[in-house]
Amino acid sequence: MIRDDIARVLISEEQIQRRISELAAQITEDYRDKEPILVCILKGAVLFYSDLTRRIDTHISMDFMSVSSYGDGTVSSGKLTIRQDLSKSVEGRHVIIVEDIVDSGRTLSLLKAHLAEKQAASVRICSLLDKPSRRLEGLDLPIDYKGFQVENEFVVGYGLDYAERYRNLPYVGVLKSEVYEN
Ligand code: IMP
Ligand code: MG
Repeated sequence: MIRDDIARVLISEEQIQRRISELAAQITEDYRDKEPILVCILKGAVLFYSDLTRRIDTHISMDFMSVSSYGDGTVSSGKLTIRQDLSKSVEGRHVIIVEDIVDSGRTLSLLKAHLAEKQAASVRICSLLDKPSRRLEGLDLPIDYKGFQVENEFVVGYGLDYAERYRNLPYVGVLKSEVYEN
C-alpha cells in the first residue's frame, strides 16, 4: 500500500475539498461573464484542476501546459522551457494559471511574463500550495488564489510527486525518511 510510505498527513482529503469549494466560489464570482482560460500546469496540478474546475459555476475554457525553468539564482537570468504548449492563443483572454505548488516561484514568474507577452488580457495564479520560505529573494509573485501555506519540507500527494510517485494520493503528506534512502 502506498499509504504505508507516508509519515504524516499534512492536509487531509476533507480539508483540501473544502478549501477548493471556497476557491471555486471566489473564481466564479470574480470571473462571471469573463469566460477565463484555466491553464492546468502538468502534471502536478491535474488533480487540483479537475476538482477545482468542476465546482466553478460560470463558463470557462480549459487548456494544458507543461513547463520547466532553468537558470541560476535570479528570475531575470532564468529561462522558461515549454514542453507542451497551449492549444489556442491567449490574446485578449483572461487567464488563470492553475499550479500545484509555488516554491522558488521562478517557473510561474517566467510563465506569467510569457503569457503577458502573448497579450493575455490578465494573468492570475491559483496554487493549491504555497511554500513562501523558498521564494527567490526579492521576487514579487502574488498568488491570487491560494489553497494552503506549507512549511519548508518536501510534500507529496494530490498531484505532487517524489520521483513520479505518490501523485495519486488523495491528500498531501510527508514521506517516511526510509523512502528516500531506498
Ligand atoms: P518553482 O516554484 O519554480 O521552484 O517550481 C515549483 C515546482 O517544483 C512545482 O511545480 C513542483 O513540481 C516542484 N516542487 C516544489 N516543491 C515541491 C514539494 O514539496 N513536493 C513536490 N514537488 C515540489
Ligand atoms: Mg510541478
